[in-house]
Amino acid sequence: MYLKETMNFKNIFSILPLILISSLLFIAPLFAQSATGHVMPAEQGPPPVLTEEENAALTAFYGKNLIIFYSVTGNTQDLANIIQSFTKGDLYRIDTVETYPTGEDLIPYAKKERDELRVPTLKGDPPNLADYEYIFFGTPVWFHDIPPATLLFLGQTDFKGKKIIPFVTAGGGPGDSIATITANVRNGQVLNPKLLTRYTSLAKDEIQKDVAFWLSTIMNSASTGH
Ligand SMILES: Cc1cc2nc3c(=O)[nH]c(=O)nc-3n(C[C@H](O)[C@H](O)[C@H](O)COP(=O)(O)O)c2cc1C
Repeated sequence: MYLKETMNFKNIFSILPLILISSLLFIAPLFAQSATGHVMPAEQGPPPVLTEEENAALTAFYGKNLIIFYSVTGNTQDLANIIQSFTKGDLYRIDTVETYPTGEDLIPYAKKERDELRVPTLKGDPPNLADYEYIFFGTPVWFHDIPPATLLFLGQTDFKGKKIIPFVTAGGGPGDSIATITANVRNGQVLNPKLLTRYTSLAKDEIQKDVAFWLSTIMNSASTGH
């Protein structure tokens, strides 16, 4: 009996590291998902779709830049991380006090929220824009327009003297999203937006090339004055 108990005790100790590692693996994504405000980039180093010189030129051009995004199912966040891998910008995640459901409950929930004219509350402190010249602004398309959270964020932000670069992910098309962003950016200058549809069906390196080309186009038009 005593021997049996000692064995169990020993067994627990031998599998303790395993239990700890698996709990961390389970808990870490929950924290990553719930982080609001300034968040850490997911990508390490620029993807190999540009030469070192081209990468350096992009990073130098965008300088100290900010990438603001809202993302419930992860696509816009993924795109924000790809932009960050080129520009080395700071990331700021817009989030709401209310937690949106995931999976198939999300669309009916968001539709009900819209039909009942309910407005979510934004969580955390707004970002300090003082040090940034270029600000990327990313959002999904919801019901042919932008979700309440991104509209609210734009409503409470003064972009005076900033250059705003929208990026949008959608299942089908942009709807009015770009027009709504442009109309609601207060005091800022809106530059070439990026739209990616059916995000999850696109190959990662194709997205990276597409993003690199878009970022380079903005850089080249700024240097030629067009
Ligand atoms: C509530 C809701 C409404 C949506 N409405 C549209 C829409 O009108 N047009 C469209 O092309 N995609 C629509 N989509 C698809 C999302 O725009 C697309 O999956 C997007 O990449 C999600 O971004 P996220 O993963 O960053 O949250 C909708 C998705 C949700 C959850």
